[in-house]
Amino acid sequence: MKMPLIAAAVLAATLFSPLADAADDALLGEARKVATSLPPKMLAALQAEIDKSGPEGAIPACKDMAPKMAGEISQQTGWKIKRVSLKTRNEARATPDAWEKAALEDFDKRAAAGEPPAQLEKGEKVDNEYRYVKALPVQPLCLNCHGPADQISAAVKAVLGQQYPNDRATGYSAGQIRGAISVRKPLN
Ligand code: HEC
Repeated sequence: MKMPLIAAAVLAATLFSPLADAADDALLGEARKVATSLPPKMLAALQAEIDKSGPEGAIPACKDMAPKMAGEISQQTGWKIKRVSLKTRNEARATPDAWEKAALEDFDKRAAAGEPPAQLEKGEKVDNEYRYVKALPVQPLCLNCHGPADQISAAVKAVLGQQYPNDRATGYSAGQIRGAISVRKPLN
C-alpha cells in the first residue's frame, strides 16, 4: 500500500503549493505597499521643510516625522515599519537586526553588480512573521544631510554634530543605498 500514499503526497504537494505561493504573493504585495507608502510622504515633508527653513531647519523632519508617520502607518495597517541602515545616524533607532543586516549587505552587492537600487527588495516568512525590506536609494535632496562633507552646509553640520555625535550617515552619493524600509507582521 505504498504507492497510494506516495501518490497522495504528490497530489497534496501539487494541490497545496500553489495555494501557499498565492498566500506568499499576497503578503509580499501587502508588505510592498506598506513599505512604499512612507518614502514619498517623507520626501514631500523634507522638501517642504527645506523650502521653508533650509536644510538645517528640516532636520527635525527626518528625526521626528519619520517615526510619527511610521507609527500612523502601523496603526492603519497592522504592519510594524521602521528605517534601518548599515551606517546609522541614530543607532538607537536604526540598527538592523541579523535578518535586516544580511538583506542590506545583499542589496549593496546586487547594486554593485548593476541592479537598480530602487528595485531591490526582499520578502519572506521568518519564524512566525512575514518580513520585508526595500532599499532606500539616495536622491539629490538627501545629500544636504547625508552627502560628502563639501555638500553639507556649516549650519547642518553644527546641528548634526550636536545631536548625533556617533553619526555614520554622511559621505553618500546619489544612487547609493542609504538603508531600507523594514516592515513585519505576525502570522497567525
Ligand atoms: C534635513 C536633513 C536630512 C535630509 C534632507 C535627509 N535626511 Fe535622512 N536623516 C536625517 C536625520 C537627522 C536622521 C536621524 C533621524 C533619527 O534621529 O531617527 C536621518 C535618518 C535617516 C535614516 C534612518 C537611518 C539612520 O541612519 O538613522 C534613513 C534611512 C534616512 N535618513 C534616509 C534619507 C533619505 C533616503 C533621504 C533623501 C530622500 C534623507 N534621509 C534626507 C536628516 C536628513
